[in-house]
Amino acid sequence: MDSKEEDKEDCRSMDVIEKSGEMAVCLLTWYDTNKRDLPWRRDPTPYHVWLSEIMLQQTRVQAVLGYYARFLSALPDIAALAAAPQEQYQKLWEGLGYYSRVNNLHRAAVKIMKEYGGEMPGRAEELALLPGIGPYTSAAIASIAFGEAVPAVDGNLLRVFARMSSYGDNIREPAALKAAKAWFQERIPQDRPGDFNQALMDLGSLVCVPKEMPKCGECPLSALCQAHLEGREMELPVMPAKKKRRMEERTVFLIRCRNEIALQQRPARGLLAGLYEFPCAQGKLTRDEAVAFVRSLGFSPVRIRELPGAKHIFTHIEWQMTGYEVLVDDAVMPASVFLTDRADLEGRYAVPSAYHVYKEIALADL
Ligand code: ADE
Repeated sequence: MDSKEEDKEDCRSMDVIEKSGEMAVCLLTWYDTNKRDLPWRRDPTPYHVWLSEIMLQQTRVQAVLGYYARFLSALPDIAALAAAPQEQYQKLWEGLGYYSRVNNLHRAAVKIMKEYGGEMPGRAEELALLPGIGPYTSAAIASIAFGEAVPAVDGNLLRVFARMSSYGDNIREPAALKAAKAWFQERIPQDRPGDFNQALMDLGSLVCVPKEMPKCGECPLSALCQAHLEGREMELPVMPAKKKRRMEERTVFLIRCRNEIALQQRPARGLLAGLYEFPCAQGKLTRDEAVAFVRSLGFSPVRIRELPGAKHIFTHIEWQMTGYEVLVDDAVMPASVFLTDRADLEGRYAVPSAYHVYKEIALADL
């Protein structure tokens, strides 16, 4: 490289450094007056940040707030979480969905107590070795709670990246995540990495919003945004439609025996692992098939009535449910099913929200 080229090179890198700095300054100035007032931001201990990040995976901020407060008042620190029985932490998660998150949270708490003397490790690389903590969450905790300068690239940051850099490839591909990490790594400031990540999350949620709705007039970064400068903000990010969900029909049974109702625990692995549900059969059963099914469980049906249908959407599956309420005489109970009363159905057993409609009906009549 001759000296002129070196000068050009220097100049280009200075330009990048200045632009990078400019982005952080504009973003953080905006954040300081526009940030959302969220409880985990008021006291960002590692445990608080960790819990909030796990709750916020697949769940909106508004839906998380109540759960966050309740969880912390019951289990205020890592030691309390590690010592809690499964029934308790699952009940605290009831309704939030994606229950493997809370099972992993507990497993990680036990590991932190055993292997790290109760102190959460502080670097993203180490955090990513704990159950349930992937590349995004480890970077979020390391930057917000420990000040490590690593970008936490979630869907919001990917969208901001695609628009800011006019990235025209599919952002659902791993190459996009890699490119976004490298792009943000050049721009994240050493002194406020956690605020930088959270500012981008807020910008993505409030301003640089999905679909064709970005509010560029309110954006602190619009002068630095390549898509905006090219008039392409409506076209980006490129994101082909997801695959369709698999449909699954099932029949749900509210089996009543005097003042109690039948429940069963789901298997320890797989969808909704370890949670409680009303007995169910695969497929959409007719009334006669339903009576036969309840008999096959060991109950003696006395009366049956059909309940309203319901559906529940998971990430990859959709349940279409038919329901029956069946009154039974005293039963020879199969080992897999047990009877419970109103107090325990409400206060003890975690029943996933997929059964919300049937749980409400059950509670109304208990
Ligand atoms: N989504 C995930 N983490 C978040 C955070 N710390 N603040 C706001 N939204 C988030």
